[in-house]
Amino acid sequence: MSDAVVTPGSVPPVVRLDRPAVSAEEAEAVVSGERTPVETVFDIGGLRVTYGDHVAVHDVSLQIAKNEITAFIGPSGCGKTTVLRALDRMHDLTPGARVEGRVLYHGQDVYAPEVDPAALRRRIGMVFQKPNPFPKSIFDNVAYGARVNKMKGDLGEIVEEALTRAALWDEVKGKLKHSGLSLSGGQQQRLCIARALAVRPDVLLMDEPCSSLDPIATMRIEELMHELARDLTIVVVTHNMQQAARVSQMTAFFTADVDDEGRRVGTLVEFSPTEKIFTNPSDQRTEDYVTGRFG
Ligand SMILES: Nc1ncnc2c1ncn2[C@@H]1O[C@H](COP(=O)(O)OP(=O)(O)O)[C@@H](O)[C@H]1O
Ligand SMILES: [Mg+2]
Repeated sequence: MSDAVVTPGSVPPVVRLDRPAVSAEEAEAVVSGERTPVETVFDIGGLRVTYGDHVAVHDVSLQIAKNEITAFIGPSGCGKTTVLRALDRMHDLTPGARVEGRVLYHGQDVYAPEVDPAALRRRIGMVFQKPNPFPKSIFDNVAYGARVNKMKGDLGEIVEEALTRAALWDEVKGKLKHSGLSLSGGQQQRLCIARALAVRPDVLLMDEPCSSLDPIATMRIEELMHELARDLTIVVVTHNMQQAARVSQMTAFFTADVDDEGRRVGTLVEFSPTEKIFTNPSDQRTEDYVTGRFG
């Protein structure tokens, strides 16, 4: 086994395979002190995912930087969720799904035979569109991963820390034995975030985490994302362009072309700093989308 295998509780060593060279502009900004050098968490190259004989998304190459929030936007069916799920090998669980291309996590090939997908998913937490607490107490929801992974330390402290980081502790500290399902939608989503944080992941993948929430609950989650990005890396899929503009530093815009058989094939159109995507995009298709001309 290679020593770069992802193990719980330890970030794999940074071995940068295939890392694209830093551009002259980037290097100059670093030298002049305008920018600190960024560390790449995911290096994705030529990614293509098929379900059976349907190419859901292809030609995806981008880098996800550490401690940044990267947003995936684009019309429904263009492959945002599919790309997100490729990052922590969730497609292993989907019969007929095939992932091709490069997905490096801290330099480690996520699809290498020696990588244990369960260990990988402890480093890379996932939060879904619809809050999905277990039908258990608030405490047991958060303690779940720590118990399954036999994490060292006091369980009560682990739960309190995760709930605090998820900005939920003050609201639930007096009722930890109540069912997770008794909470409001926004609280349930923060509970799911706490559950993901309890195993101390390095990355949080969030698939439209606010789409079932009201504007106030949405705002709380967005504030929380900013907080969490201080010591985590976040990738968020959102159909809400304002949300991408508010929370992310980098934005990937995807779209779908229709193939000969009328099926949609997703592709990455543009990956740029969020401000550029919304004010001065490089591709006409991005401009049409962000100005509301389609999608
Ligand atoms: N489990 C699956 N089996 C077959 N096709 C799927 C599956 N999941 C998604 N797809 C198809 O893959 C394409 C991309 O879907 P998805 O990644 O969910 O898009 P988005 O998240 O951008 O809305 C769509 O055409 C969708 O129908
Ligand atoms: Mg989706």
